[in-house]
Amino acid sequence: MNKQYYVNGEWKSSEKTTELKSPHTKEVIAHIPQATREEVEQAIEVADYAKKRMAELTAYERAAILEQIAQLFADNRQKAATIISLEAAKPIKYALGEIDRTIETYKFAAEEAKRLTGEMIPMDAAKNGANRFGYTIEQPIGVVGAITPFNFPQNLVAHKVGPAIAAGNTIVLKPASQTPLSALFLAELIDQTALPKGAFNVITGSGRTVGDALVESDKVKMITFTGSPAVGIGIRNKAGLKKVALELGSNAGLIIDKDVDLSQIVPKCVTGAFSNQGQVCISLQRSYVMEELFDEFIEQFAKATKELVIGNPLEETTDVSAMIHPGEQDRAVDWVQEAVQNGAEIVTGGKIENGVFMPTILTNVSPTLKVSCQEVFAPIVVVNRISSVEEGIEAINDSNFGLQAGIFTNDIQTAFKASKQLEVGGVLINDIPTYRVDQMPYGGVKESGTGKEGLKYAIHEMTETKLVVWNHN
Ligand code: SIN
Repeated sequence: MNKQYYVNGEWKSSEKTTELKSPHTKEVIAHIPQATREEVEQAIEVADYAKKRMAELTAYERAAILEQIAQLFADNRQKAATIISLEAAKPIKYALGEIDRTIETYKFAAEEAKRLTGEMIPMDAAKNGANRFGYTIEQPIGVVGAITPFNFPQNLVAHKVGPAIAAGNTIVLKPASQTPLSALFLAELIDQTALPKGAFNVITGSGRTVGDALVESDKVKMITFTGSPAVGIGIRNKAGLKKVALELGSNAGLIIDKDVDLSQIVPKCVTGAFSNQGQVCISLQRSYVMEELFDEFIEQFAKATKELVIGNPLEETTDVSAMIHPGEQDRAVDWVQEAVQNGAEIVTGGKIENGVFMPTILTNVSPTLKVSCQEVFAPIVVVNRISSVEEGIEAINDSNFGLQAGIFTNDIQTAFKASKQLEVGGVLINDIPTYRVDQMPYGGVKESGTGKEGLKYAIHEMTETKLVVWNHN
């Protein structure tokens, strides 16, 4: 199937295409256009032209368009989920869950579009402020360049497209090379709405060509990126005065205090560590368990992990399938081997079976090993023993990343202390770090990024605050 990219409400072909392969079957599922720099520049030109029309839409009209997108996803729920499963090998039950979240994300964006407001400034609070009336307005920023990852090919796109439309901006979207079909399907849906032509464009191709053209263009006023720290830092260095929002990686940690009910916690840990093959920025990667519960936790966690159904992502019962690329599975094996050579023990997994890297639990892992200190982005979880919650907090903070962290405890003082001391963007009390609903502020500290997503927060990032002062002397 030869795909086309989408600019100015039209489908276009590039001279060059690449094969897109299913991560599960390895079969070619589509041929994807590889846009040239000139083609990207044309898309930016179109988005720049459309920004005037877009900025004229009322909040009511922007909200109605976002509601339309949400409804179209609801009408095409199964199809949209199947596309994700095919191109990303996300098990269909998680892909359906992603589409349900996508619907909610666009609905939240619609609601926030109606709430977008500035504030009154008490001008006369200053000595020289008498007889002045001041207020701010939130104005669209213009063209937003969105560069999105493969792991949530619809909902993490929605987290950029939804707020951009809510704020009255235009968009040029570059989806991950491994998951362009979801973004192109979004274009098919948006084409059926009242969004002005040229306000939403999807360009497929390499990060170097498409990403660089977006980052380097003076017409693009903001880059919103989700992906690896290395690429994110490269974007920040090249972006000049553009606004940049970066959602980068993490090695999310969890503390399990003594005296908690493991039967409630273990199933959450299995989901947190292994859903979407661990390819989630807040996947549970490091667990620190109080010594009183350690052996029992390992036993229950290993048992539940071995019960996971491995295989075809399109089967309703499948829990874990292939990672996004065979090279990524080989990397996961290498990182486990490095850990084992340095004293770690494999509780379960650690190898590829029938083309799938198996869910893996490691113990006794030194903090300097890749599986602990780097973002593993694979179904690998480290479980280490701690003798105090303070030790767990220190271990979680001993990281270049800081996106979200979790703690299970029955002690209210311990929970408060953890919420204050954990150096992360979000602390989850009595939950896994992988917990997210789409309206909450989401974004990290350290190398986990800058700026917040979550509709209200992302919309704020995508507007310019303008001050208006009336002199009524
Ligand atoms: C991410 O990988 O950053 C997104 C996680 C989520 O939305 O659940």
